[in-house]
Parts: sequence; C-alpha cells; structure tokens
Amino acid sequence: MISSLTKNKKLLAYVDEAVKLCKPLHVHWCDGSEEEYKNLCEELVKHGTFTKLNEKLRPGCYLARSHASDVARVEDRTYICSAKQDEAGPTNNWADPVEMKAKIKGFFNGCMEGRTMYVIPFSMGPLDSPIAKIGIEITDSAYVVVNMMIMTRTGKKVLDVLGDRSDFIPCMHSVGAPLKPGQKDVPWPCEPDPAKKYIVHFPEEPSIWSYGSGYGGNALLGKKCLALRIASVVAKREGWMAEHMLILSLTSPKGKKYYVAAAFPSACGKTNLAMMQPTLPGWSVKCLGDDISWMRIGKGGKLYAINPETGFFGVAPGTSMKSNPNAMLSITKNSIFTNVALTPEGDIWWEDMGVPPPAKAIDWEGKEWTPDCGRKAAHANARFTAPASQCPVIDPDWEKSEGVPISAILVGGRRPSTIPLVNEAFNWEHGVFMGSSAGSETTAAALGKAGVLRRDPFAMLPFCGYHMGDYLAHWLAMAGRTDRANLPKIYFVNWFRKNADGKFLWPGYGDNCRVLKWICDRIEGNVKAVPTAIGNLPKLEDLDTEGLNVCCNDMKQLLSVDAEGWKNELADISQYYEKFGDKLPKALKDELEDLKSRLAKG
Ligand code: OXD
Ligand code: MN
Repeated sequence: MISSLTKNKKLLAYVDEAVKLCKPLHVHWCDGSEEEYKNLCEELVKHGTFTKLNEKLRPGCYLARSHASDVARVEDRTYICSAKQDEAGPTNNWADPVEMKAKIKGFFNGCMEGRTMYVIPFSMGPLDSPIAKIGIEITDSAYVVVNMMIMTRTGKKVLDVLGDRSDFIPCMHSVGAPLKPGQKDVPWPCEPDPAKKYIVHFPEEPSIWSYGSGYGGNALLGKKCLALRIASVVAKREGWMAEHMLILSLTSPKGKKYYVAAAFPSACGKTNLAMMQPTLPGWSVKCLGDDISWMRIGKGGKLYAINPETGFFGVAPGTSMKSNPNAMLSITKNSIFTNVALTPEGDIWWEDMGVPPPAKAIDWEGKEWTPDCGRKAAHANARFTAPASQCPVIDPDWEKSEGVPISAILVGGRRPSTIPLVNEAFNWEHGVFMGSSAGSETTAAALGKAGVLRRDPFAMLPFCGYHMGDYLAHWLAMAGRTDRANLPKIYFVNWFRKNADGKFLWPGYGDNCRVLKWICDRIEGNVKAVPTAIGNLPKLEDLDTEGLNVCCNDMKQLLSVDAEGWKNELADISQYYEKFGDKLPKALKDELEDLKSRLAKG
C-alpha cells in the first residue's frame, strides 16, 4: 500500500491487510479537507443517501434516511471480547476473543466488494493534547466519513501527529452489503438481519470491529466504541476516567466560573443541559461538550476534563427553541439530519420542534405524511450531527489541551418518583454509591422497550468496556489520587419527577440553572444543606425560585425524602448489586447498609 499522506509502516500494513480481507473496488485515504467533505456530500446526494436541504433555509445541510432496521444502537449485538469472561462482567455481552475474531473476519471477508474503502485517521481529543487518542477507522460508508468529519478531528493533520508511532487504534467498520457486479445499490446499505449485526471490542489489543449497521454509535467508531468502551479500559489501567458526561461552564453574576460534568443516560437531556440558557438573570452557561468527558488529575491536584469530540450527535425530536435554543442555532447550517421529516420547502421538521407541523411532509421512512396520518414524522431516535464550533455558547476553552478543572459532578436519569430534584453526596464514597445506583427509564436511543426502569451506573451501562464492579472500584480509587479537598462534589439530580397525575413537577430546561446555582453556593460554602438519610438536600429558601411557577407543595415534594419510595429503592439496589458478586466494592456495600440504617432511624 502506498499513500501520499503517510509513511507509517504499521498503518500501511494495516490498510493492506484490510484491503486483502474486505476486497474493496477502490481505496480512499481521507485527508480531512473541506473539499473532500463537499465532494463526499455531493456523491451521497447522487447516490440517493443524502437529500440536499434548501440552501436558503438550511445552508450546507443534508438529510439522510436510514433503513428501517437500522435506527439505533444495538446493545444486544455489542460485545466486549476480553480474554476472560469475568473481565467483561455481568453487564456486557462477552464472546471468546479468538472465536469472535475468526467469526467477524469471516463476515468481513469480501464485505466491501464493489464499494470504496475509506481510511479515516481521527483523533479523539485536541491534536496537541497529551491525552488524545488516535484511531484509524476503515469503513465502506461515505455517510460515516462525513459524520466522522464533524464529530472528530480527521485527516492529514492527524497522520502528521501520528508520524511513525504505532499506537493507533484500528477500527474496522462495514455496513455489510457487498455489491455484485452490476448490482444496483440502495440509499442506506446495511445488514437488515439484526442477528448478523456485530459491534465488537477487543480491549486487550485494543481494536474495534463493527459490522452490519451504518447508524450512530454503531458506526461512528470514535464515539461510544473508542471514546467510552475502549477508553474506559485504558483509563482504568492508566488511572484516569472516560465517562458518559457533558461538560459545561457556569458563570455567576459576580463573574466566577465553575466547570461541571454530568452523567445522564442516552436521550435524557444531556445536550439540553450542556448548552442551557439560564432563566436566572446574570448567570451564563457555556458548553464544552454534550456526551463524553475524559478526566484526569491535573494541575494542583484537581480533576481536569476534556471533550474528545468536535460535534454533537443529538436527538432531534423534542429539540426546540424552548428546550434547547442553542442546539437549534447550532444546526442552522453545515449539519446532517438523519431520520427526520422533510418539508415541501426542503427544510426539516420533527415532533416537539416548537413550530406547527407542515401540512404535508415526507416522513423518516420516505413516505408521504400529514399531521393526521397517525404516524410520527421523525423517528424517536432521529439525530442531528452538527459542528460544536457552531454552538453560539461554545466555551472559549473547549479545545484546551489540558482540559478544565471540574468542581461538581452531576448524575441523573429519568425517575418519575422517589428521587429528589437534587441531592448532594456526603463525600466521594457516598457519591460513587449514588452514581452506582443511578437508574433511568429507558429511551429510544437503543433498540428495545422504552420507559422501563433500568439501573445504569454513571450512565455507563452500555458503554463500560470491563466489569462494572471493577469500574466502581476504579471510581472509588480516584479518591486516593489527590487530596480529597480537590475532588469535585457529587450530586444526584432528577428533572423528571412527576406528580400523581403524571405531570412533571419541575419545569426543567433553563430553570435547571436554579439547581446549578445552589450547587455553586454549596461549593462556595455560602449555604448550609439539610442532612437527611439519603444525602444533603437544599433548604427550600436556598433554592432560588424567583419568577418560578412551581407551587410550594410541589417544591416540598421535589425536595423531600419519600421514605416508602426509598424502601423499594433500597430493595431494588440490593438486588441489582447482587449481580456484581464479590466484585462489588466493600465501600459500596457499606454505603448501602448505612443508607438502610439511616432510613430505618427515620
Ligand atoms: C448517544 C447515545 O448517541 O448515548 O450519545 O446513545
Ligand atoms: Mn450518549
């Protein structure tokens, strides 16, 4: 293999081997240039994968519709192939690495016949960051290439940083739809049989092999596969953290800036919180990232975070000028929309966009749609891919190579009952206990039933590349890496509490800054909290409710300990913990027992 972009012997040999295996018609090395992006988009339009949106209404934007079988991450087809099953733990699918490698190579054999193989050099993290990781994604999907160009740093500049180093992470991807000579292609090629899709991680090598899907986290391998599953394994070994967290900065009216990281399961409002427009006068929020945070102890012993990505791959339905004005402004140009509806004017539309539905549209499946047809116009997991640099409130330090110092970590999920609006951990161990027992109603981000409660420790259930018990031990061990005073405070938040009639008690969105303000007051030691059996809760008068339309009784309910609910919660957490057997850290067992006895005391 010869490439004008690199002389890296290991890389050239890797691509050579991939070509021999996949047997593509052409090979295209991605240089990451604007011209390349433009050409690929044009090709995707010619091919029928992309529809160019109205240049006046949505300049530089495209719409893609996926195959109806390929609309979300496939967690049951996702594997961690560590040497021993015990290393993957009870929350991951495991397969023997030797057997799986042979099997997946069988699938990849000839899988790119009739297609172009794209070689995408990409960096997770700023190019000059000592903690960035370089991956090489080999894919037969031009859709994946252009999405990766938004979501990561790609191309020649990455190869220049790589030089002749051999520590890149090989990421093999194929949509699994080879073309026979003369066979007509389809707009969204993929393997339609769910049982033949494979998202496979070999953490020891490390390498990633993804087959059969072209959608989101299944196919953009820098995101969930590298920056979370593989990175979490590396992070444990090297003493840092790869987390499913947004990063935001919050500036008080006095000009003091705080950095916050927050873990929420998929489609629970991370993007909304990350770029929120505060309703409290004088406070401002800026965004550093909406999905992934890599954190390590840095200057002065503080925990520093970087966002390894460069774009947002956000859930479209529900995004509106009310729920997330800054996301709406980020997607006015140069964005890719997948599985949303197309209006007659050549613009996009989705449910709860905050604008009236068009009289007619083409829905995400390409069918004619009218508001009364009884179907949703956009798929519930429809997405936008937008450059982070287009966010009107992007933080000036979002690409700082050493990251930003985190003062508070939030953990949350969709919990209609029991869990208060905000609850401060007594200390790091108690915070890790809170994170370990986090749960949420499931959403459309993964295939499967939506709306059932599942425990999702630190929102990492689908993304932790090793045993969840060891992961929690790693969280606990971080406390030994610095002075405790340097550690961020940990908070459990719940924007999704409902009343008996099923109505949300808390308005959420921009009003969540009221909770963030209380957290800042706690960091500064400005206010005392109420110590309760479950943690430190705000005094009613310390939560700024000026201009808020929530009645006093609802506020009380949001900030009280629901003793009955917590009994059920305890039983459910105990049962969940049994999964981890002797890998459950003793400190967490102790936390559970302590909580039990505090609740018993009343
Ligand atoms: C995502 C997810 O796409 O968590 O970020 O599913
Ligand atoms: Mn996510």
